[in-house]
Amino acid sequence: MRSSNFNLLKKKILSHEAKIAIIGLGYVGLPYACEFVRNGFKVIGIDLDEGKITALKNNESYITDISSEELKEINRSGLISYTSSYSGIDSADVIDICVPTPLSKSKEPDLFFITSAVHNIKQKITKPKLLILTSTTYPGTTREYVVPTIADRHYAIDRDFFAVFSPERIDPANRRYKLSDIPKVVGGVTKLSGELAVLLFRQIIKNVIEVSSADTAEMVKLLENTFRSINIGLVNEMAIISHKLGIDIWEVIDAAKTKPYGFVPFYPGPGIGGHCIPIDPVYLTWRMKLFNYRTRFIELATDINNEMPDYVVNRLAGILNEKGKSIKNSKTFILGVTYKKDVNDLRESSAMPIIENILHRGGKVSYNDPYVKAINENGLNIKSVKLTQNMLASSDCTVILTDHSLYDYDWIVKHAKFIFDTKNGTRGIKSDKIVKL
Ligand SMILES: NC(=O)c1ccc[n+]([C@@H]2O[C@H](COP(=O)([O-])OP(=O)(O)OC[C@H]3O[C@@H](n4cnc5c(N)ncnc54)[C@H](O)[C@@H]3O)[C@@H](O)[C@H]2O)c1
Repeated sequence: MRSSNFNLLKKKILSHEAKIAIIGLGYVGLPYACEFVRNGFKVIGIDLDEGKITALKNNESYITDISSEELKEINRSGLISYTSSYSGIDSADVIDICVPTPLSKSKEPDLFFITSAVHNIKQKITKPKLLILTSTTYPGTTREYVVPTIADRHYAIDRDFFAVFSPERIDPANRRYKLSDIPKVVGGVTKLSGELAVLLFRQIIKNVIEVSSADTAEMVKLLENTFRSINIGLVNEMAIISHKLGIDIWEVIDAAKTKPYGFVPFYPGPGIGGHCIPIDPVYLTWRMKLFNYRTRFIELATDINNEMPDYVVNRLAGILNEKGKSIKNSKTFILGVTYKKDVNDLRESSAMPIIENILHRGGKVSYNDPYVKAINENGLNIKSVKLTQNMLASSDCTVILTDHSLYDYDWIVKHAKFIFDTKNGTRGIKSDKIVKL
């Protein structure tokens, strides 16, 4: 039976009077906060990072998908406020949790950010709410952890609050699909929860797909990202095989993808990065250990993908060797250090292990990345240098790790001594100087 709180929330959602709290204003949370504002909803953006809150208040965006100009427009609407405190959260009708879900040092799911957000919410809420968990996680998290932590004798599911899992499928730097164009999957812990969340997302997203449970929605996200991880692992292995056979993998993929059915192109690279593909499948592997099941496909793909940075450095050593050089004392110039093109995100980027490995072998490394002024992590402290004719000509090898669109590849090939291109950024350019992955 529909409780009066269900009817109240439904009415507020349909009239866009519902107030939305977004917890975690990163690559996922900030675009959502903006989309709700664009559709006339009031939003409270909560992030524990004071630096982000100050930047947002000053109209400064820190993610590439939202320009500072857009942010200014959003702020000018007067519909959004930013805070690092949970104190006003009870005024929200909807709470959407978009905090990170990384791996711990021992490569196990680290749910610290979810548990801390849920505990903060629990301490403050008394009024009816729709709770949405967006952070990618293992199947069962919303039902087994979020709901029992929030519920108590006075605050019951389907009477006082409603809970769903709804994964995010945002593809940073993808200009083709805007957030509102990407179909949104929703799975309720209860039927009424799913119903409310579907209504909410229909206000901002064109196509909303409801699945039968929160666990199913959690699994949808893991299937999508595991599919990518495994196919990238496969194509990375194909790149290694093709190199041994003296075949250009990029040409192979270009021809294979002309098949109108049964083939989806994936591309090799120096390793996988970002906050999703290298991490999410491990959540499933971990979960399945409880069921005594070994996720062999996932583990194999993870192994191959994790070995790519070493493979790249070994190939670089081979290229230098052919020119009569060793990595030791040689000068490597890296172009692009982010995990994918046209973003400013360094998380899990293969550039870090590659740079560390070259330095460890006694080589010298410089890098240029228009999106990353400096790298300060894992003991690495390097500043991006200017991409100049002299830098290219004086380096023993230029290695393309990220194929940013801003680069003028013809010009780079013209001035570099040698190029090791791990991303096919030099596609279409013919030169003896280029060696591809
Ligand atoms: N980045 C992507 O492309 C992408 C795509 C789909 C899904 N996801 C998933 O979405 C989730 C968020 O990813 P992201 O890339 O936006 O992460 P992010 O690191 O960019 O943003 C998360 C934000 O949460 C804040 N935060 C952490 N703990 C908090 C707390 N207790 N209260 C309030 N704020 C807190 C952090 O300061 C940070 O600003 C992850 O589970 C990720 O796997 C990410």
